[in-house]
Amino acid sequence: KRVLSVASEAVPLVKTGGLADVVGALPGALAPLGCEMRVMIPAYRGILKKLKSPKPVWESPDLHGGPARLVRGKAGAMEVLVLEADHLYDRDGGPYAQDGRDYPDNAARFAALSQVAALVAREGIAGWTPDLVHCHDWQTGLVPWYLRDSGIPTVMTIHNIAFQGRFGRETLPVLGLAAEDFHRDGVEFWGDVSTLKAGLMAADAITTVSPRYAEELMRREFGMGLEGVIQARAGELHGILNGIDTEAWNPGTDPECSPFSAARPGGKAKNRAALEAEFGLEVPGPLAIVVSRLTDQKGIDLIAPAIEPFLAAGGGLAVLGSGDGWAESALSDLAARHPGRVGVRIGYDEALSHRMFAGGDAVLVPSRFEPCGLTQLYGLRYGCLPVVAAVGGLADTVIGASPATLAAEAATGVAFHPVDDLALRQALMRLVSLHADRKLWGQMMRRAMKSDFSWARSAQRYAALYDALCAS
Ligand code: ADP
Ligand code: GLC
Repeated sequence: KRVLSVASEAVPLVKTGGLADVVGALPGALAPLGCEMRVMIPAYRGILKKLKSPKPVWESPDLHGGPARLVRGKAGAMEVLVLEADHLYDRDGGPYAQDGRDYPDNAARFAALSQVAALVAREGIAGWTPDLVHCHDWQTGLVPWYLRDSGIPTVMTIHNIAFQGRFGRETLPVLGLAAEDFHRDGVEFWGDVSTLKAGLMAADAITTVSPRYAEELMRREFGMGLEGVIQARAGELHGILNGIDTEAWNPGTDPECSPFSAARPGGKAKNRAALEAEFGLEVPGPLAIVVSRLTDQKGIDLIAPAIEPFLAAGGGLAVLGSGDGWAESALSDLAARHPGRVGVRIGYDEALSHRMFAGGDAVLVPSRFEPCGLTQLYGLRYGCLPVVAAVGGLADTVIGASPATLAAEAATGVAFHPVDDLALRQALMRLVSLHADRKLWGQMMRRAMKSDFSWARSAQRYAALYDALCAS
């Protein structure tokens, strides 16, 4: 099968979150299953320079107000098509926003990407025509809509329903949509256009990144207004768990840490000492870490009101993250109040994130909702046991300690619900007592490190889905 995967970010070229990890991992995971996937993303500033053997394969004098080219190349082993259109993508800020404010022309920027993707699907490019198009999140939701009468199967993956691609009705022409498309069974959403809804209406199959999130999406609590649309398509909805890159995230070979493994967990202590030194901490009890976008989704506001008893009981906290101003200052205040026990780095730092999983005893993920989540999976792999809110992919991947799961020797972390500061406080105290029982803790660590979150199984599910769609 030839699959065109269209997205707004992909590792190793550009990343703001887990979406990029997943888009970047799929081609390699699917290749052994006979699936040839090419990834199409915009050429944000600096991207073209990262491509190996770039070759222009298509051009247009005018794509939403300026010239555009499609350049084929390689990033590692991944085959990519980048859409160069400097008037749309060559900007100082990030892929979607600058200084926290969305670019005013995001409708045009991602309609352009979607239009060229649909063109590649219909007409092929440089001798390559995809059998199927796989789209990710609102940025590419228009692709299935554009292709709805083409006979080319499309898959729409929801990585996060909070982002819906909502634009005013007046943007219909910019989005390449007709007035007739603007209705309840079309692209209309609460009086606006939603590009994600367009994708959900038109795609042949909808997937999301964990089975639990697939169920949650049909409920008002989590569906964010799209629950009805998703319920109506429940028969075509699949929850397929994300995997992680087990080469890049391997505590036995990670260049950022002293090696350790389930069989030889000894290196963990060295890594922890190094991490404490790096953050200027001295922690007698469990050392918890947070590696996250600092936003409301991630429950970052729950940490400060929950953490005091944990610190008083000997715990420590090291945070790496960036995001909303309120969250950055709340965490920095917390660090200032607890020198030696709480350390905070504001920023994005891939290498440091590896040292944190290697050195931490536990990773906190108190998300209000979490489609899949990757940091709890890195935590499991590095024996940095997850303390998670029991929602979405967190509930699907972490077995919370309880008398029953401990007796069954199944527990791999701590899970709490409801998602509030009281439950988080209790979960952290639970962590303290589990950690104090050295034998039990060692068993949980080894069990977590042995759990398998590679892509193998999920890649098979995607491949089977592609096959079914192409056959029908
Ligand atoms: P989301 O996509 O909602 O942000 P995920 O858990 O799926 O959540 O993915 C987040 C990814 O971004 C992980 O690979 C995580 O390690 C990484 N990450 C988040 N914040 C930082 C940071 N400040 N520094 C380095 N890596 C980060
Ligand atoms: C989104 C979600 C996250 C998921 C990632 C990759 O950013 O917030 O839970 O892991 O996409 O699918």
